[in-house]
Amino acid sequence: MDQNQLKQAVAQAAVDYSLTRIEDDSIIGIGTGSTANCFIDLIAKHKHKFQGTVASSEGSAERLRGHGIQVFELNAVSEVTIYIDGTDEANARLELIKGGGAALTREKIVTAVANEFVCIADESKWVDYLGTFPLPVEVIPMARSYVARELVKLDGDPVWRDGVITDNGNLILDVHGLYPMGSACALEEQINQITGVVTNGLFAIKPADILFLATQQGIVTHTAKA
Ligand code: 5RP
Repeated sequence: MDQNQLKQAVAQAAVDYSLTRIEDDSIIGIGTGSTANCFIDLIAKHKHKFQGTVASSEGSAERLRGHGIQVFELNAVSEVTIYIDGTDEANARLELIKGGGAALTREKIVTAVANEFVCIADESKWVDYLGTFPLPVEVIPMARSYVARELVKLDGDPVWRDGVITDNGNLILDVHGLYPMGSACALEEQINQITGVVTNGLFAIKPADILFLATQQGIVTHTAKA
């Protein structure tokens, strides 16, 4: 199977799993990216089995509406039953680096609200140590240079993702040189302490609950190991 077929397969596994978790009044949280897009396209035919969705990006919201699926503002819902999203890297603790699609802040917010976070990925995203994928950091525009200097003090090599404005009107710094990452939880907290940082793409303090990983041998289900 090529990478696209693996994404389709893992998205189908997530659809099958979601159907065991949702009820008529459920809200599904929907992530961002090509794997999440596969999930959107596949869940569409089950749209009458849940109330609607919240989306982690304008792009995903638009795709959902294109399928006739209702998209709610997060502030308008009291509960998100399950959140489905892809990742850029995942380790055995189900700590993630996300934000390749610049949607990390909204992804983290929906993750915080959701009862369960199901991550879906093809096997290329599985790593022993995080940090080969540059860590995205969303930054308030006027703080860009200051935050970059502070990230250098943490031994990172930040690169401004030129031309990218997030759905929140902010900028992205991609931090290279963090491999192999030691404590992802500590680094997540440390970077979020820098004034001007909105959030960073480490999902370690609150990792995924389940990871469905598409491999050439089939779908492998990972749950977090301490
Ligand atoms: C977007 C993300 C995506 O989940 C991540 O970039 C993976 O994308 P894809 O499924 O296209 O490989 O974090 O901000």
